[in-house]
Amino acid sequence: MCGIVAYIGQREAAPLILKGLKRLEYRGYDSAGIALLNGDGLKVYKKKGKVADLESILNGKELHAKIGIGHTRWATHGEPNDVNAHPHYSQGQRLAIIHNGIIENYSSIKKSLLAKGYSFDSETDTEVLINFIEDIQKHKACSTEEAVRLALLEVVGAYAIVVIDKDEPGQLIAARKGSPLVIGIGADEYFFASDATPIIEYTKEVVYLDDYEMAVISNGELNIKNLENQQRGAFIQTVELELESIEKGGFDHFMIKEIFEQPKSIADCMRGRLNAETAHIQLGGLHNYMDKLASAKRIVFVACGTSWHAGLVGEYLFEELARINVEVEYASEFRYRNPIIKEGDFVIAISQSGETADTMAALELAKQKGATILGICNVVGSSISRLTHAGVYTHAGPEIGVASTKAFTAQVTVLTMIAIAVAKQKGTIDDGEYRRLLSEMAAIPGKVEQILAQDAEITDIARLFTFAQNFIFLGRGLNFPAALEGALKLKEISYIHAEGYPAAEMKHGPIALIDEDMPVVFIATKDSSYEKVVSNIQEVKARKGRVIAIVNEGDVDVKKIADFCIEIPHSHELVSPLLTSIPLQLLSYHIAVLRGRNVDQPRNLAKSVTVE
Ligand code: G6P
Repeated sequence: MCGIVAYIGQREAAPLILKGLKRLEYRGYDSAGIALLNGDGLKVYKKKGKVADLESILNGKELHAKIGIGHTRWATHGEPNDVNAHPHYSQGQRLAIIHNGIIENYSSIKKSLLAKGYSFDSETDTEVLINFIEDIQKHKACSTEEAVRLALLEVVGAYAIVVIDKDEPGQLIAARKGSPLVIGIGADEYFFASDATPIIEYTKEVVYLDDYEMAVISNGELNIKNLENQQRGAFIQTVELELESIEKGGFDHFMIKEIFEQPKSIADCMRGRLNAETAHIQLGGLHNYMDKLASAKRIVFVACGTSWHAGLVGEYLFEELARINVEVEYASEFRYRNPIIKEGDFVIAISQSGETADTMAALELAKQKGATILGICNVVGSSISRLTHAGVYTHAGPEIGVASTKAFTAQVTVLTMIAIAVAKQKGTIDDGEYRRLLSEMAAIPGKVEQILAQDAEITDIARLFTFAQNFIFLGRGLNFPAALEGALKLKEISYIHAEGYPAAEMKHGPIALIDEDMPVVFIATKDSSYEKVVSNIQEVKARKGRVIAIVNEGDVDVKKIADFCIEIPHSHELVSPLLTSIPLQLLSYHIAVLRGRNVDQPRNLAKSVTVE
């Protein structure tokens, strides 16, 4: 969702901000803009479309400035157009603002400003906020910094903002509540951004702003305080991100790069944590919580999108291995349901970004109700990772493609490791099974490599289904969530309507859709429900459906009846989603590319959904 980049220092701000906005393109957006402050005043340029469209209107303009703010907007209030794009000027054009989030009480503020004679160019809540700040500044005759603070005390909602003031050329004012904001600290220069990716090229030293905090850069000094005006020191952290990890590295798209990174990202996720040779699992982040987790009465996973699917895999794993009752909740539903939380309950958030608004809110609610809250996040230092009592990072590296791939397999890897560790501690699995599971996990990266080697064959299948209108994905057990994830991947990036179902549910509805035009993807690996899935395939074939099956090497039965088979190595049933999800990612990717879709930035989607 919206991306923020701001700069103050000795470099040329415009090219730096535009490059930073491109680094944030992956978050999803529909317009972009920049405000620059120099001797000629404060100038705002903005444009519907991509950063490249913004650049085209900047051609030939005098952009020389050492301070500026830039934004990519994902429309919430008002359609994506030039006027609604950020930055927004205040009415007197002294101030300009960029904003990520939603001001929920903007209409009442707007009403009072309209009564005072303010008029608005855009339909946005953001323009209301900057005029509110200007109005306070005028009436209280206070500094812009104080006006921002007073305005934010009145605001209900979520925001990360940066404000620039024409009359204070050495100053940037930022604040956050509920939307991410990172400050980069360079030598005599400062950066603000929604995440560290636009910053790491210049500095690895960052400060994460917390909710209800403001950061003011003034005359080369950074000052952090809360909305009550209490100062806090800047806790500087070093980000470990490398520039190569946020570039395409010779691949056509980030998504395919990230799919191919999975042997490494899964290995990185297990590194130093799982050792099959010494039969050892250690999750440092959970060290102090293992006893409590082993005696947990119930675990509730809260998540959205792909991360929710990882939670469903976790449900099977924890119930099967650790015999703990698990519920998997859409964070957006859980947070508004007055959920029953009892002592001894664990609520575990699964989130790639660690910033998803609904997941954050669900966790906050669970924390208030007394649950122990844990996080499984990919982005180090993210809001969720800082809110939780403890957690485990997935260490998959930056995921730039909007459709999640390597983050999903890393989430499943972490969930599997926790479930095995808890089961071992509880004694719900015997030593033989424990050792077997560890070696099965250790073998996953090599097996993923083998599946990736079939990319060309999977592309050939994708070619035959490029123009399908619909798809059904079916699987059972742990491969039911893998089927859901396969359907989600396809619909996200190819815009083909796709449904995932547990294979046995097919008879209760989806079977009515099956005819010669309906491709059905079956996950038919040799596990405890293999025979039943084979029967389901026969039912689809009897109705002339076209079957693509994910099978194990050496499969005989499915091969006789399916139209196309993709073979994957054998594995323990409990780790199989780590393998079955790979060909489904490749299939979706190639179909989307063949349809000419923008796979890394599919329409309407955002990588990090920071508003509810
Ligand atoms: C968005 C993304 C999905 C992601 C979901 C949850 O919808 O496009 O890829 O699965 O948010 O995000 P999270 O960062 O919490 O895992």
